[in-house]
Amino acid sequence: MLNIQTTIAIIGAGPSGLLLGQLLAKQGIENIIIERVSGSHVLGRIRAGILEQGIVGLAEQAGVAKRMQQEGKLHDGFEIADGDTRIRIDIKAHTGSSVMCYGQTELTKDLMEARESNGLTTYYEASEVELHDITNSPSITFTCQGERFRLNCEYIAGCDGFHGVSRASIPAHNRQEFERVYPFGWLGVLSDTPPVNHELIYARSERGFSLCSMRSSTRSRYYIQVPTYDKVENWSDDLFWNELKKRIPAEMARRLITGPSIEKSIAPLRSFVCEPMQYGKLFLVGDAAHIVPPTGAKGLNLAASDVNALIQVLQRIYLHNDKSAVGHYSPLALRRVWHGERFSWWLSNMLHNFEGEDVDELQNVTHNGPNRSTMFERFMESERRYFLYTEEGHKVIATQYVGMPYEELQ
Ligand code: APR
Ligand code: PHB
Repeated sequence: MLNIQTTIAIIGAGPSGLLLGQLLAKQGIENIIIERVSGSHVLGRIRAGILEQGIVGLAEQAGVAKRMQQEGKLHDGFEIADGDTRIRIDIKAHTGSSVMCYGQTELTKDLMEARESNGLTTYYEASEVELHDITNSPSITFTCQGERFRLNCEYIAGCDGFHGVSRASIPAHNRQEFERVYPFGWLGVLSDTPPVNHELIYARSERGFSLCSMRSSTRSRYYIQVPTYDKVENWSDDLFWNELKKRIPAEMARRLITGPSIEKSIAPLRSFVCEPMQYGKLFLVGDAAHIVPPTGAKGLNLAASDVNALIQVLQRIYLHNDKSAVGHYSPLALRRVWHGERFSWWLSNMLHNFEGEDVDELQNVTHNGPNRSTMFERFMESERRYFLYTEEGHKVIATQYVGMPYEELQ
């Protein structure tokens, strides 16, 4: 076994791990990343593309914002369609801020290239990754290119996603997990066709939710809500486009330019949080600690705010020789995580069809007629009437969509 050493061991070369590694290196704090798959496999994942100003700022600090500024598009608003009614949420007017439309995959690529050009160490295609002595003198053993390694470190950042090894390395009696699984998923299609609109459209219709998004002026990303039991092979491109046209406003359907899908997949929707987000000298970051339904575009943005919280703690330790803040990471990160979780859950409830699904205790209604509506659905109708059709409601949506300001470590 080869013994190697670093200050911060990062598990996972997704956006969380790469952004953390880059920001640590900028501060002169040594780090090594261990990643289960190849770099090209990481870049092959199709992910969302709406960035809050917070992560744009972190990308600038990390020295990887150049291509984003050149190729990304600032969006000052987005639309919510309620049936055929198009409602614009003017986030610039309500918050003074905008969001950046730039694919997560592109940002991951920029981070990966920066890490490589800075000569920082990443072990790709690592297997048998195990954490040891997390509460005292942590190390990680792993196999890479047939060699066994032990990486000795001072702290471990578990940036290894929902299915990673880090969260599972915290004893079950030391963590509490909160989970809500939704009774539907999103069928997503990527196509080299011009976007139907210059801003995103979140559409609610009697047939179900849909989203019209984009990656560039020539590449679009569309989603439709499907039942959890649905299969991507049930959906030809034509079936997808025809269903999407039935769910978006008629004028949008007329304008929609369809084309062959270059990626098509179904993602389940869940809300998940693990508390606390740290144990001993292990910090959980990003999807390793929490998952949101993609409705609020918060997945990557919450990972970034975790990184911002952790960077502050590690700077306190290594630049100011002050370990007093070590225990502050989890509560600091969780305050913003729960805010993003609640917004994503709330927007998902308001815009998706639950079709009499057994959502929760609001189910108890008397079915004495053909109408299968539930009390929950009546509540959501009332939510839409207020939040989609009043300026106060728009301000609430806009403020949360652009993201609450990052909290500074006290
Ligand atoms: N050892 C090493 N690496 C691992 C292990 C392991 N045991 N398990 C998982 N990984 C790697 C995965 O291969 C992946 O590259 O950890 C990385 C985790 O990356 P993400 O799942 O993208 O999570 P994160 O970096 O937190 O980014 C969150 O990505 O999935 C989206 O919607 C999510 O936008 C959010 C963002
Ligand atoms: C996307 O472009 O993939 C996207 C955008 C906004 C969301 C979810 C996904 O809320």
